[in-house]
Amino acid sequence: MRILVIGSGGREHAIAWKISQSKIVSKVYVFPGNAGIDVDNQLIRIQVSGSVSNEHIGKLVNENNIDMVVIGPEGFLVTGLVDYLKEKGLPVVGPTKAVAALEGSKIFSKVFMRDNGIPTANFEIFYDYEKACDYIKGSKFPIVIKANGLAGGKGVFVVETEEDALRTLHHIMKERTLGEAGSSVVIEEFMAGFEVSFIVLTDGRNIVRFPICQDYKNLSDSGKGPNTGGMGAHYPLPFLNENMLSKFEEEIVRPVLRGVENMGHVYKGFLYCGLMVSESGEARVLEFNCRLGDPETQLLMLLMKGDLLPLLEKACREDEFSLSEVTTEFWHQKAGLCVVASAKGYPGEARKGDVIEVNSHIEDLPDIKVFHSGTEILDGNLITSGGRVLTISGIGESKDVLRNVVYKKMSQVKFDGKHYRNDIGLTEIREK
Ligand code: AMP
Ligand code: GLY
Repeated sequence: MRILVIGSGGREHAIAWKISQSKIVSKVYVFPGNAGIDVDNQLIRIQVSGSVSNEHIGKLVNENNIDMVVIGPEGFLVTGLVDYLKEKGLPVVGPTKAVAALEGSKIFSKVFMRDNGIPTANFEIFYDYEKACDYIKGSKFPIVIKANGLAGGKGVFVVETEEDALRTLHHIMKERTLGEAGSSVVIEEFMAGFEVSFIVLTDGRNIVRFPICQDYKNLSDSGKGPNTGGMGAHYPLPFLNENMLSKFEEEIVRPVLRGVENMGHVYKGFLYCGLMVSESGEARVLEFNCRLGDPETQLLMLLMKGDLLPLLEKACREDEFSLSEVTTEFWHQKAGLCVVASAKGYPGEARKGDVIEVNSHIEDLPDIKVFHSGTEILDGNLITSGGRVLTISGIGESKDVLRNVVYKKMSQVKFDGKHYRNDIGLTEIREK
């Protein structure tokens, strides 16, 4: 099969790398990709200058005789690339536009959860700034303010005081610092507990669970600093057990599939449930994403021992429900860890153009892999070109052993302004 992976992050590098090992693949293309794709002999990068429309991608698909498209980032899902390619009769992994509103609109997502009895934080919706201000003035803190639209992980604010909340609301709704994404907001109850990333692949009826892991969202150690797209991830999470996972599947994933069916659609593709798990093991949904996570994928693709491609192929067959559960042998029974190196300025405006030096032996261990995100090649040099620059991922016998290896490898990557967290895999992260 000839596969096109769409996206330019570490997630897409990891997906493409994994697919390239499939028994049934002939070529893997990545669009628009990054320098990691350029230097990987198994992968072919397609670059196009200027803006890219669905029609443009349709043309790339035809020109390269692509058999299946895998979409990494949410933007393409929310603007209907899946619908467009499906209309052309092309298999594509990911939900259609109507379903991707579960990620694209916080309001849609919260109302969907309420209507389908899916546990989540209590919330109110505001289209009007003054009404939102009044609500804040009568609230108990902390509360969480969420811009309705997509904001690249920057649209959610946990606020501790009334003053902070009013200032945040002003930024979102009046100054429109997040653009149209902030024309309406959800204000919700703060939930305490352990945050986990529960990701499944589904054909609409059958579910393949991926190892449940934890993403470190804050920029700096011990949960300090601003929220980011994710600075690292780890697996396993000893506070979870099989009973709890089955319950999450029954009480959260199944109702999503049923709810989508009731809307007259079928959920096909990845469903990422961001969950807050309480001390007693009850989970409530923080958010749904209609795609794999970044950097979770950089870890999950290493933990996956079996072939991803046949699963993807089954998950996108129209009017078919042939995806079957995988056995435990499908996954390495190992611990996993990944650490992200980010550029100066991230998660704000990140500096570009810093030259990256990577020790040539960095991938000399079989279970260690470097996945690129914001990298390019300029005049023969590898340079930074985005906020999250690369991820070093590893699997091994224990997180302690892995921490030594991954962090040693991290010290072999050098660029001005390089930042990473030192505490990935050290503690389970918990909201107090
Ligand atoms: P979201 O994009 O909705 O998942 O929010 C981004 C991050 O904000 C989450 O990963 C949590 O760390 C935090 N967060 C969001 N909603 C809540 C909530 N109701 N209670 C506590 N933390 C939250
Ligand atoms: N790492 C969080 C996300 O991909 O949304």
